[in-house]
Amino acid sequence: MATRSLLLPAALLSLLGGQLAVAIDLTATDADSIKSAASTIVYDMMSYYTGNNTGDVPGNLPDPYYWWEAGGMFGHMVDYWYYTGDKTYVDEVVQAMTWQAGSGGDFMPSNQTKTEGNDDQGFWALAAMDAAELNFANPNSRDTGTTYPSWLAMGQAVFNEQLTRWDTGTCNGGLRWQIFQWNNGYNYKNCASNGGFFQLASRLARYTGNQTYVHWAEKSWNWFADSILYESDTHKIYDGTSDTNNCSDADHTQWTYNYGLYLGGLAYLYNQTENEKWLTHVHGVLNQTVNTFFPNGDNIMVEVACEPYSTCTTDQFTFKGFTLRWLAVVAQLVPTTASTIWPLIQATAVGAAGQCDGGNDGTTCGMTWNTTTWDGTYGVGQQMSALAAVQANMIYVNNLKAPYTTATGGTSKSDPSAGTDTDGSGSSSGSGEGAIYHRTITTGDRAGAGILTAIMLIITLGGSAWLVLF
Ligand SMILES: *[C@@H]1O[C@H](CO)[C@@H](O)[C@H](O)[C@H]1NC(C)=O
Ligand SMILES: *[C@@H]1O[C@H](CO)[C@@H](O)[C@H](O)[C@H]1NC(C)=O
Ligand SMILES: *[C@@H]1O[C@H](CO)[C@@H](O)[C@H](O)[C@H]1NC(C)=O
Ligand SMILES: *[C@@H]1O[C@H](CO)[C@@H](O)[C@H](O)[C@H]1NC(C)=O
Ligand SMILES: *[C@@H]1O[C@H](CO)[C@@H](O)[C@H](O)[C@H]1NC(C)=O
Ligand SMILES: *[C@@H]1O[C@H](CO)[C@@H](O)[C@H](O)[C@H]1NC(C)=O
Ligand SMILES: *[C@@H]1O[C@H](CO)[C@@H](O)[C@H](O)[C@H]1NC(C)=O
Repeated sequence: MATRSLLLPAALLSLLGGQLAVAIDLTATDADSIKSAASTIVYDMMSYYTGNNTGDVPGNLPDPYYWWEAGGMFGHMVDYWYYTGDKTYVDEVVQAMTWQAGSGGDFMPSNQTKTEGNDDQGFWALAAMDAAELNFANPNSRDTGTTYPSWLAMGQAVFNEQLTRWDTGTCNGGLRWQIFQWNNGYNYKNCASNGGFFQLASRLARYTGNQTYVHWAEKSWNWFADSILYESDTHKIYDGTSDTNNCSDADHTQWTYNYGLYLGGLAYLYNQTENEKWLTHVHGVLNQTVNTFFPNGDNIMVEVACEPYSTCTTDQFTFKGFTLRWLAVVAQLVPTTASTIWPLIQATAVGAAGQCDGGNDGTTCGMTWNTTTWDGTYGVGQQMSALAAVQANMIYVNNLKAPYTTATGGTSKSDPSAGTDTDGSGSSSGSGEGAIYHRTITTGDRAGAGILTAIMLIITLGGSAWLVLF
């Protein structure tokens, strides 16, 4: 982590040795074209992943990719299987996700907990929800000698832990960015953590029909909507706020994924409750998403806070992909939005595929989707975002079924008390609402975290520390 050296896959090693402009030609309304493009992009993406090699750690990406980004990537991989029917990576994905979930299913692996934030845990939990909602291969489909909870129970475990961290001590509630006090960013209450919890609660509500999740989704939304993070008249969503100022000012940066987290959550909640209040919010946030992130009149998504300035960082290269993934689901769950959303996804996907003409292989994806001239950037985030843009079109072309629920054929088993009584491997103990999160913190943990925090500060010096997830 300290050196942030780039480990390049073989295909990129001779990157500087002359560029072959192949590009990926996509017809966004043709299933074979979409599958072929997605298969090329996914292959290049997975060539970064070494976690299934003997002696490597399943589920981790090499430097400089943080642990949370792998969680985001495996969510796209679950979708990839469902959208295209390609089973090539299924075993690898099950292995990665179960390894990181652990036998308690709460995505608090001991190797990560020192620096783990609520948002990091949330991205893995949302990947597990994708697996539950799409009837992905069972967590116990591999013969490992360990018994894992269901995908749904993994989402429930993370939900149960996060609600014990709901913090009414400052700013009238909300989740903190960091789980542990000794981590840089503990004072920050951000959208990635709170929007992640909101979307998780909304998806659990829809999958199980349990009103407890509706209650918490609503409570989480209300806190956010009343906070400085949200402008209720314009529907603008800002990145985060600090409790050192009683949450009276915000980091006003607007990121696609924060919009995506809330918009996605609203769509699930509306679809489940059929309460018009949520529909109004869906339309408002969708409208502002379009106004903000599709600025050029060409229906192509832009990460406006960094892309026009070529300042996007490793994490930021991933953000558009999540938002596109959730936009497609919004179109399914709130059919009145489909005619707005599909033209955006179609044009964006063609743009994204056209930007995949870099590197030695001529199919490496950059980030600047409104030109077919490769922008010179490459990495897991660029591959992920292009993959999400391209593969989402299968929903439209093949009229794929919306995410399943228990009532519509979802087979993942519910365990409402998951995560409330896991072992000591960095997990919580507690029992639902009001329980206090108490992990025993050893002196060694503190020292380790201190060092990691110091490294993070050095890495982020000169930039905004808030913009880096870890
Ligand atoms: C890892 O998975 C990839 C893709 O499925 C496969 O090609 C490769 O052989 C696997 N590696 C090992 C060591 O199993
Ligand atoms: C933790 O890291 C060690 C050393 O790299 C590795 O052997 C182990 O498999 C990792 N455990 C998890 C759960 O990732
Ligand atoms: C913090 O802000 C909340 C909401 O605006 C307000 O109710 C509370 O009085 C403030 N607390 C302090 C200490 O200023
Ligand atoms: C959508 O955005 C436009 C442009 O900012 C605004 O005039 C309009 O009121 C918005 N509509 C909704 C439903 O928020
Ligand atoms: C492509 O997007 C960038 C960033 O928004 C913008 O500056 C540029 O003008 C766009 N190019 C075209 C051809 O629209
Ligand atoms: C919920 O989603 C389903 C599946 O797409 C759709 O048929 C239904 O109309 C949606 N419900 C509402 C209230 O929009
Ligand atoms: C609904 O969720 C709550 C909170 O996790 C749990 O206590 C309750 O048993 C659940 N109800 C059902 C019917 O599963």
